[in-house]
Amino acid sequence: MTIAGNGYQSGFGNEFATEAVAGTLPVGRNSPQRVAHGLYAEQVSGTAFTAPRHANHRSWLYRIRPAAMHGAFAPYLHSHFHNDFGHGPVTPDQLRWSPLPLPRAPVDFVDGLFTMAGNGSPGAQSGVGIHLYAANKSMQDRFFYDADGELLIVPQQGRLHIATELGVLDVEPNEIAVIPRGIRFRVELPDGEARGYMCENFGAILRLPDLGPIGSNGLANPRDFLTPNAAYEEAEGEFELIAKFQGHLWRAPINHSPLDVVGWHGNYAPYKYDLRHFNTIGSISFDHPDPSIFLVLHSPSDTPGTSNMDFVIFPPRWLVAQDTFRPPWFHRNIASEFMGLIHGVYDAKAEGFAPGGCSLHNSMTGHGPDAATFEKASAADLSGPDVIRDTMAFMFETRAVIRPTQQAIDATHRQRDYQACWAGLQKHFAST
Ligand SMILES: [Fe+2]
Repeated sequence: MTIAGNGYQSGFGNEFATEAVAGTLPVGRNSPQRVAHGLYAEQVSGTAFTAPRHANHRSWLYRIRPAAMHGAFAPYLHSHFHNDFGHGPVTPDQLRWSPLPLPRAPVDFVDGLFTMAGNGSPGAQSGVGIHLYAANKSMQDRFFYDADGELLIVPQQGRLHIATELGVLDVEPNEIAVIPRGIRFRVELPDGEARGYMCENFGAILRLPDLGPIGSNGLANPRDFLTPNAAYEEAEGEFELIAKFQGHLWRAPINHSPLDVVGWHGNYAPYKYDLRHFNTIGSISFDHPDPSIFLVLHSPSDTPGTSNMDFVIFPPRWLVAQDTFRPPWFHRNIASEFMGLIHGVYDAKAEGFAPGGCSLHNSMTGHGPDAATFEKASAADLSGPDVIRDTMAFMFETRAVIRPTQQAIDATHRQRDYQACWAGLQKHFAST
């Protein structure tokens, strides 16, 4: 069964209102004695009831059956998708992986998740889980929700048709989808196969960064975020509801589709964003700015200016800085960086960082351009501009160290020779 999309509403974090059947939404109240069309009213809140107004997220759903109706949960064993980031030593090595191989046997989105790394925990409500997915089958007769975190999905190959309780998101590579904590959904694969990345945000809900001296426009503009209009399916049968709760998966029988919300209003809702709409800002004089200039969304921590998670992209852009090493410089940061590549070539690496691959550079681990990129950029003619047309890299950056899972360390697609990319850097020092 495919629930058809019905368009989008524009804006980031707005108070949206949408109904798939006219007259569904009550007027002047949220919970009338009898909801129109025989629907049930249900509130879903994503922040504390008493959160400040600017940070308060909740929506009212008007649905065929309330979310409470399902059978008992039993454990659902899924050895590759979890929040076990280990408690032992973490290697300070630079780490890199080739793309996760696509499955041979039929695997859907949930079963195709593979946990690479993470920090914090759902119980602590801080940190992230970082996962890859590789799937070749649409979810059939089953639905998923994640009570542990908000999901930031970054497709790398193949489109996703994500039917959620609040409407449908159709996303393709170079777009992202964000599913709020607890919202139920089903992922279908219009292209047969799909691969990408998923950040599970245990912390504060993702928001747009403040712009400071940049002004009132720029980076990701609010109007480019799209939230679906209400769309519902009315279906009875033998279905399965899969929940992720405190790091483990659970399954329960459910005799109807939970995607039965006929109308809703509020500001707790899924959305998508086309990364190609990002207004990229850089230097027009000299020096490469800090990569915070590429910030799309962030989950703030309790420390001002310090994020639980930053989502940063490295999109196509012009490089014009004079007397400047134009690629990203060598660096060590207190933050920890998990990178992926959606498309093309990343400008700090000549080879080895493939679309669908990923890298991890943890706190204070030195990294930067590989030897080939350094030599080329150091000798480049800067009299004219360079343009990077064919690229879309991204980073999940966190304040806490990102702990790779044992299965990521052991994976056959880990590049055990990654550090060799810097081995060719020559000594150029001469004191005279
Ligand atoms: Fe870095």
